[in-house]
Amino acid sequence: MTTAFITLLTNESYLAGALTLGNSLKKNHKTTHKVAILIDKQSLSKSSIDLISSVFDDVIDISDRLIKSSPIDTLTKLGRPELSHTFNKIHIWDLIQYSTVIYLDSDTLPIKSLDHLFDKYGGTKLKQGSIAASPDSGWPDIFNSGLIILNPNHETYEELKEFSTNPINTFDGADQGLLNEYFNLKSNGKNWHRLPFLYNVTPTDSYQYTPAYDRFVDQIQLIHFIGGIKPWHGKSHSNKHHELWWKEFEKHFTKEEINSILGHGEGKNLKFTKTENVWDEEINEESGEIEDSKANIPPVFPWEHRDDQIPASRTFKSFKEIEQVVEDEFNSISTSIKKNIESLGKLSLGKIVKDQESLKDKYNIDSNEGDQWDPIASFDKVSKLPSKFLSKEEKKD
Ligand code: UDP
Ligand code: GLC
Ligand code: MN
Repeated sequence: MTTAFITLLTNESYLAGALTLGNSLKKNHKTTHKVAILIDKQSLSKSSIDLISSVFDDVIDISDRLIKSSPIDTLTKLGRPELSHTFNKIHIWDLIQYSTVIYLDSDTLPIKSLDHLFDKYGGTKLKQGSIAASPDSGWPDIFNSGLIILNPNHETYEELKEFSTNPINTFDGADQGLLNEYFNLKSNGKNWHRLPFLYNVTPTDSYQYTPAYDRFVDQIQLIHFIGGIKPWHGKSHSNKHHELWWKEFEKHFTKEEINSILGHGEGKNLKFTKTENVWDEEINEESGEIEDSKANIPPVFPWEHRDDQIPASRTFKSFKEIEQVVEDEFNSISTSIKKNIESLGKLSLGKIVKDQESLKDKYNIDSNEGDQWDPIASFDKVSKLPSKFLSKEEKKD
């Protein structure tokens, strides 16, 4: 029977990731397995669907059966309300046309061919109702759901769908919490076959065990860019892993195609296209300086359209420096907004409820604050992570 790699794409925000992953598997690692994708067709433009169809062997539309987790507090606290889309990974168990499937998040980059995983861990090696996955770097007693080896079957599919209807069955409000409850915690770990960490390495700024990284770096099989900031949100000259991803992306697409791919989803919000070449400036290898400093730094946040904020003449040496300026800006705007609303104190619901409703729709944030509205608490919720705004500003073409 056929076997496949598969990823998930519910909107344009992850388009660059999915296309790079598909190309990497097919053209770079020349996989002999099918490369499939689950998409929400209704949230994608015609040109994106054409691109997807040119890369993937099997494009499966799930727009008529989307599953979304309820926007519980945990996701809001994580600053990642968009992760409610990830419940759609459940549909992979329905794909019984494939005997074994390797699911990969679209923010993963295979460094080596993963083809041997099908024989080594899939097929008859996986007993019904179990999966194989690597431990999560943040909490190694649970698995990271960015790479999962599974054998689709209807019994598990139906059970998982049913299981997902109870919000108590996911500790993070998204798929990793759900799938760990189901395959790991419910069976005391018996239905989780533990893969080496090398198959799902998550290098983060906040935690990395550098000596181990140095010892094993040559054996890394796959890198997973977890967190709200993905490589395609900006071209980095300081993060070697992000650079690797860009190298792969640029290998398969022309400059025009890259601009157009980033013009959808988050790229659009970051206004990559407006000041076209700002991320593509020539960097002087030796000094790390940007050669042509004429370009403006594009406004990054939706509200950041005040010309006086970042002088047009300012040059940046690295993406990290830009990030720092953006963070400072964000904090200063945050502080001034907070100061203003602090003076309001607690308000009774009135016209405010309207604003709250629109926040709820726009950012998928639920509020349980009864008939009192605490502006500071609400502001804290929506302002935790800038990326929350960016990823929620998706527009359909
Ligand atoms: N995803 C998607 N649309 C969304 C959010 C997530 O298609 O709005 C898919 C995408 O494949 C992504 C995966 O779900 O890689 C899991 O989300 P993400 O990788 O951002 O989670 P993280 O690894 O950062 O926890
Ligand atoms: C994670 C995983 C990702 C998953 C998300 C939500 O950190 O990397 O694959 O979708 O949590 O559970
Ligand atoms: Mn991921």
